[in-house]
Amino acid sequence: MKDIDKEPFFIKEIKEQPKVLANTLSRYLGPNLHLKITRPPLDDQTIRRIHKVYITACGTSYHAGMTARYIIEELSQLPTVVEPASEAGRHQPLVDENTLAVAISQSGRSPDTLAALNLARSRGAVTLGLVNEAPSPLTEAASGSLQILAGQVFTLSSTKAFTSQTLALELLALRLAQSRGLIKERWPQELENLARIPEMVRHALAMEDKALQMAKTLNDYDHVFILARGALLPMAYEGALKLKEVAHFHAEGYSTGEFGHGPLAMVGPRTPIILIAFAGEAASDLSLARAFRARGAPLWLISEDGAKKDQAMASMADLIFPLPAVQARLRPMVAIIPLQLLAYHLGRLRRVNVDNPGGLLGDDWVGESQLAH
Ligand code: F6R
Repeated sequence: MKDIDKEPFFIKEIKEQPKVLANTLSRYLGPNLHLKITRPPLDDQTIRRIHKVYITACGTSYHAGMTARYIIEELSQLPTVVEPASEAGRHQPLVDENTLAVAISQSGRSPDTLAALNLARSRGAVTLGLVNEAPSPLTEAASGSLQILAGQVFTLSSTKAFTSQTLALELLALRLAQSRGLIKERWPQELENLARIPEMVRHALAMEDKALQMAKTLNDYDHVFILARGALLPMAYEGALKLKEVAHFHAEGYSTGEFGHGPLAMVGPRTPIILIAFAGEAASDLSLARAFRARGAPLWLISEDGAKKDQAMASMADLIFPLPAVQARLRPMVAIIPLQLLAYHLGRLRRVNVDNPGGLLGDDWVGESQLAH
């Protein structure tokens, strides 16, 4: 059997996600949302003096942080800023002792993320490292850490760590909201919704054949746009990153709402569009979908039971990847699954080694912030 014919770690890690998410939930979610954050714990007193959350990370971890901004602001009503760690040293981030600075890193050792965390710490922020690998330089540097329990990662490209980071950030948002007295009576419902996540992800994974079908079609093109709104927008960025990194295929993630303000000019029969449009949001995306059809662009929909819930939108789509119904805030963890599967199948079709796709920076890369000194 040739190497290319073995089942790659990349798809194994994608399929591990329900188990990994269940692990994270069972570790951190006690009856009173006992969130084990060490050195020192994020106790009620500390949380109540926080006025702002500052999140920093690189690559896929940065996309998890971007989604967390919507969730933290919604649940805890704390203003939240997210920036790529490579930009942190390029300005004076407004971070002080009333800021919770969260640095997200699967490996706990990305130089830029470490530098951004140290910068926030030097300004007196309460620092939290959200990592998979612990101990690691980030857990050493941060005043507290939260481990995501994604298990050993064998691939260069992050999948299970990403959904696990997103879930851990949801738990952090709930913890902040709880200390601020904002969700008391909603607890049982929140817990019930969270408990369903591994099952919802399993449900999305079971539709792998749709992703394969998408990959076979996409392989005949050179570009794809992936569009989404709100907390799902970072999933469009993340899906595009995966397609570039793992399938060496040009993909652009874009805000659905912004797309009409220029990029639409690029759309024609050779530019397929993947639209992430959940029920309720789909209506506002309809006019854009009509514009795509008028220009002859293939349109693929990632949608919550799209075919049934939004007939007008569904009737315009060439292909639909239907997802199970899930609470709006938790959709990102489910919506990313088809795009991970698409990157996998397209990578295989294009004969890329999906576990180690190549073309990335090597070990001698020291990171933006170190180069600046
Ligand atoms: C993409 C990917 C990278 C990492 C980034 C940060 O699939 O894996 O974009 O997310 O290099 O790495 P960590 O999270 O280890 O700091």
